[in-house]
Amino acid sequence: MKTLLQGIDRVLISQEALQTRVAELAEQISADYKGLNPLLVCVLKGGYIFLADLSRALSINHAVDFMAISSYGNGSVSSGVVRILKDLDRDISGRNVLLVEDIIDTGNTIAYIMENLRTRQPASVRVCTLLSKPSRREVFLQADYVGFEIPNDFVIGYGLDYAEAYRNLPYIGVLKPEVYS
Ligand code: IMP
Ligand code: MG
Repeated sequence: MKTLLQGIDRVLISQEALQTRVAELAEQISADYKGLNPLLVCVLKGGYIFLADLSRALSINHAVDFMAISSYGNGSVSSGVVRILKDLDRDISGRNVLLVEDIIDTGNTIAYIMENLRTRQPASVRVCTLLSKPSRREVFLQADYVGFEIPNDFVIGYGLDYAEAYRNLPYIGVLKPEVYS
């Protein structure tokens, strides 16, 4: 645990607060999608822990699928370049799709994915993001479900990484700027 804590400035969202909010989101999503058997699309890799907790907290039938997108490389500044590294396994035509994201920062990644998925004739596409940094938005994008709005700090943990590290932290932490600058 010692090495993991290196570089962390402070805890922004505790493990308890995350679990409470995930349960609330799951309750809302379960009510909104009752009888619709939605497809939860997890955007790898950052969304994997959120998806796992959200999926287990849902009280309705649903399926999961995964997409991997390149956005940042190893840095902490959005390149604006989005590329599909792994596409969905199944056709989504007629399905109610719920995109599950770790964080919406500039919005470029999710805007690209939504545009791409909409060409495949799904019944609906909505977005559920654990975190949102509204002050950083470059494209207009209103997520349907937002766990927490956060300030413009680089955060890690609960699936979110810096250069592939820190994903396994059970809380959302703020990285010391000297780690990435
Ligand atoms: P966007 O295209 O700028 O909205 O970037 C979204 C993606 O950038 C997310 O899926 C994350 O992988 C990554 N990202 C943005 N902000 C952070 C952060 O504070 N910590 C870790 N990853 C981040
Ligand atoms: Mg990432």
